[in-house]
Amino acid sequence: MYANRTDHLKVEGAYAVLAKAQSLEADGREIIHFEIGQPDFDTFDNISLAGMRAIANGKTNYTPPAGTPAFRLAIAMDASARRGVDISLEQVVVSPGGKPNIFFPTMALVNPGDEVIYPNPGFPTYEAMIGVAGGKAVPVPLVEENNFSFDLDVFDKLINEKTKMIIINSPSNPTGGIIPKADLEHIAAAAKKHDCWVLSDEIYARIVYDGMDDAPSIYALPDMAERTIIMDGFSKTYAMTGWRLGYGIMPEELAHRVGLLLTHSLGSTAEFTQYAGIEAITGDQDQVDAVVAEYEKRRNVIVDGLNSLSGITCQKPQGAFYVFPNITELGKSSDEVANWMLEEAGVALLPGTSFGAHGEGYLRLSYANSVENIEKAIEKMGKILK
Ligand SMILES: Cc1ncc(COP(=O)(O)O)c(C=O)c1O
Repeated sequence: MYANRTDHLKVEGAYAVLAKAQSLEADGREIIHFEIGQPDFDTFDNISLAGMRAIANGKTNYTPPAGTPAFRLAIAMDASARRGVDISLEQVVVSPGGKPNIFFPTMALVNPGDEVIYPNPGFPTYEAMIGVAGGKAVPVPLVEENNFSFDLDVFDKLINEKTKMIIINSPSNPTGGIIPKADLEHIAAAAKKHDCWVLSDEIYARIVYDGMDDAPSIYALPDMAERTIIMDGFSKTYAMTGWRLGYGIMPEELAHRVGLLLTHSLGSTAEFTQYAGIEAITGDQDQVDAVVAEYEKRRNVIVDGLNSLSGITCQKPQGAFYVFPNITELGKSSDEVANWMLEEAGVALLPGTSFGAHGEGYLRLSYANSVENIEKAIEKMGKILK
């Protein structure tokens, strides 16, 4: 009855755990939430006000499908400056959230049977979209021993003449790991040798710690601009998840095709939202720095807290707002531990397997939550792990 191209689609793990946590809350249980990957800050006031002003001024119309020229130019200038490259307005495709700029470039590039390499554990949308396009999803493990960068030995064995695209995500959801420049160079050389595209999900590029500048981008490496799509957006950096605002940066011809897919599906991104986006990029950036400093503080608290628990070890990730602790010593599956934590400790978190089979043996916690709640959760987890 249904077309097979949707047979493989699954609910995102975070929403399933959230629903379960909310039903426990409805029964009067206190639950501390670490399952959803969304900032716990409100959108910065200057951005919200710009959006409201735009609505009051009648900026409520269709716009060109790939975005207003003023917004695309602002994005091109900002992205160029941040990555030390030269990006033109014509290369920018604005979308409602970042996700369409995973979906549409994949639809525009991947033919049925083409292979697409992607990180596992990784953001579930990659595998979902490869499948919708009819591509063959080829997972590359992210390994703890390598700070959750790509496993380059496995990668080298998997890439071949059928590989059409390589998806990378740095800093990563769910591990918080960053792919170092040397690894990016390795991936870039392989992409050039096998003539494939790279889709680089850089939505957490500005949420990085320990004094690091933005995470390095594969786009900036020699001869990579012609085969790279950057996916980026406003959801995480500016706490704008519900506004739905993101963009892709890609060669002009591909941008034209992706613009056509947008034309015939979503039409365009809301006009007033694009005004808010201009304010986000061109307004005061100190608020971003302050929020990142707060996340860093929380990261330190949660990593130390998790490492103090018996049977759990946790690396200190350098980006995003996730930790990916190893729970293999507990002798239970990720699913069992996640359920146990929710039901017995009142702590909602995700099994690593929500991000693919290579997430077995791990949990994912989003620390977009207060230090006070983090400390409380560690105490509750400690009580049941004794
Ligand atoms: C790695 C990664 N890419 C893309 C997205 C999608 O972002 P948006 O909400 O802007 O569509 C997310 C959101 O969770 C993410 O974690």
